[in-house]
Amino acid sequence: MTLATADADGRLSARIVLLKAVDDRGFVFFTNYASAKAGQLAAHPRAALCFLWKALRDVVQVRIEGVVEKAGAEESDAYFASRPRASQIGAWASLQSQTLPERSMLDTRVAEMERRFAGAEVPRPVDWGGYRLVPDMIELWFGQRARLHDRERYESVGGQWTKRLLYP
Ligand SMILES: Cc1cc2nc3c(=O)[nH]c(=O)nc-3n(C[C@H](O)[C@H](O)[C@H](O)COP(=O)(O)O)c2cc1C
Repeated sequence: MTLATADADGRLSARIVLLKAVDDRGFVFFTNYASAKAGQLAAHPRAALCFLWKALRDVVQVRIEGVVEKAGAEESDAYFASRPRASQIGAWASLQSQTLPERSMLDTRVAEMERRFAGAEVPRPVDWGGYRLVPDMIELWFGQRARLHDRERYESVGGQWTKRLLYP
């Protein structure tokens, strides 16, 4: 999904992340807590998500907006433990969003982490974990003929959801 965040000055940034879980509380993704997006979320804890399914029902778009909070340590531990070992090592090796002076330095860090955790389980780095976007707006967009698309917008105020249609 596309994840859009903003810093304290309103400067916007968008990137793709994996939607790992959806539950009654919201939409969960995992990342580096020292990354650029994490800095933006600390400064401005709202975000927008966008999905596109081109092959579904003449195109479906889903837009979601809401407040972002860190997922619990247990939830992050559980997902980290389920990841392939190479991805766990990669999470330790990557200083996500920081300047990498040359590619070989990443390979060196991977080798270092492989040595450090040789023969042992790889623990979750403290700087790696989940975020949950708690939605207050969800819009379902269904492509229709002649650009007369259907837009269903669901909005929550104080936990009370309402639905309205929007002009396309
Ligand atoms: C298909 C795809 C899936 C990705 N999934 C994730 C993810 O789940 N978590 C993550 O941190 N980055 C993921 N990335 C990398 C991000 O797009 C981005 O490069 C990275 O998170 C750094 O973003 P930032 O510098 O804005 O923090 C993915 C990229 C692609 C193309």
